[in-house]
Amino acid sequence: MEPVILCPKLQLQTDSREYEVLYHAAVQSATVPGASVEIGVREGGGSELIMRASHGYNRSRVHVAIDPWGDLPYILSGQDSGYHYTDEMRHRCMVGLSTIQYKTGVDVLVMPMCDTDFFERYADGVPFYRAGQDESITRYSLVHFDGPHNLDDIRKEVDFFTDRMSCGSWWVFDDVYLYDHAALETDILAAGFVRQDAPYSPQRPNPIKASYRKVG
Ligand SMILES: C[S@@+](CC[C@H](N)C(=O)[O-])C[C@H]1O[C@@H](n2cnc3c(N)ncnc32)[C@H](O)[C@@H]1O
Repeated sequence: MEPVILCPKLQLQTDSREYEVLYHAAVQSATVPGASVEIGVREGGGSELIMRASHGYNRSRVHVAIDPWGDLPYILSGQDSGYHYTDEMRHRCMVGLSTIQYKTGVDVLVMPMCDTDFFERYADGVPFYRAGQDESITRYSLVHFDGPHNLDDIRKEVDFFTDRMSCGSWWVFDDVYLYDHAALETDILAAGFVRQDAPYSPQRPNPIKASYRKVG
């Protein structure tokens, strides 16, 4: 029998399954120092879920949402998937996430750019100002990897975040069946993370999401 975990009801759309894994990681990481991140935002439902976890457990955690939208080709297994992440979707998502920000008080920084652009431009930190303070973001407590689903691209993402994650932070990977996630897992474990997948078992058949917690 599948474990029961109550995800909050969302206003914005999602496009996958096992969001309980993301919500659990978002709750567990809420009080760990550093911002939360989603790479690949689409309509904003995944980011909303993370922001709602922060709202419940640590309202001061900033959320960084990275996505170029712009109707760029989305490559899966070496081919154009035909999925369209359009300018109109960006417009809708920004309104949606701004509304969630306004209602929850959780700050969201939408970065309308590719992951690699973000890594080049914000390697020294993300400028952020609040309550009269400069809170430049250099550390992270949670990353949801849900942009490109190609091993080389995700490796670049993992490389960027590895030395920026706080102790006790979490990584969540979506659609792990779409690429050689087992090969990536070697890098993840070497970076000091252990597999979790809570509230599910990592041994369940056909996982959609995989989660990891940084120990030590
Ligand atoms: C699978 S959808 C994300 C779904 C969303 N996380 C959710 O749970 O509802 C993939 C998204 O990745 C974005 N994307 C594609 N290439 C990207 C890149 N290089 N960097 C960041 N995001 C990217 C697309 O624009 C699209 O919105």
